[in-house]
Amino acid sequence: MSAAEELKNRTTPTFSDANVTVIFVLGGPGAGKGTQCARLVADYGFTHLSAGDLLRAEQDRAGSQFGDLIRDYIKNGLIVPMEVTIALLENAMLAAMSPSSPSEVDKSQLRGKFLIDGFPRKFDQALKFEEAVCAARLVLFYDCPEAEMERRLLERGKTSGRADDNAESIRKRFRTFIETSMPVVDHYEALGKVVRVDARKTPDEVYEDTRAQLKERLGEGF
Ligand code: C5P
Ligand code: MG
Repeated sequence: MSAAEELKNRTTPTFSDANVTVIFVLGGPGAGKGTQCARLVADYGFTHLSAGDLLRAEQDRAGSQFGDLIRDYIKNGLIVPMEVTIALLENAMLAAMSPSSPSEVDKSQLRGKFLIDGFPRKFDQALKFEEAVCAARLVLFYDCPEAEMERRLLERGKTSGRADDNAESIRKRFRTFIETSMPVVDHYEALGKVVRVDARKTPDEVYEDTRAQLKERLGEGF
């Protein structure tokens, strides 16, 4: 059975949500997800996994069978088929929790806390990840107007070297965000799992709000 088929058929999560805390971090492109995650890592010991970063690394890995596919999806601001992204995330989680011999451990006993940034960007990813990898505790949603996100992305594009930080790709990414990713936020909102943060302010102010809200939901040292 191929890895993709195995994932499709799997109906029990690899990791236990009693031992592993997963917080999904969502928000449009340029909302500040990565910036805020770096601060939470420094202060609270989360492992930060950016789905976009993992996809870019896989795209550039010599011998990857997905390199061209990922490049094409990213350039066009489209969502890469979920089995690719979920496999990358699951492998990265396993490596973070069991660095020495991942194949020999009882995965359901592993412990960790993760910020999963830029994921799930599509409804099928959300359902499959929770069914097959680990149930999520919360969704941290950075809410930012498009004009501000565009300003930030164009600024970042001057130095990021990213193939999608240009006006045309940005337009496509915004469209995907509205049409494909916002329904995921709405789904978790209906479940009472969304922590919404106003992302228009300075990084310091946004971080203070993030901390305050997470403390309220998860307790002091979360
Ligand atoms: O989050 P980031 O802006 O780094 O994502 C860059 C691109 O990677 C997205 O526009 C999309 O093409 C791809 N991606 C994806 N699925 C995800 C996260 C990112 O297809 N869950
Ligand atoms: Mg990012």
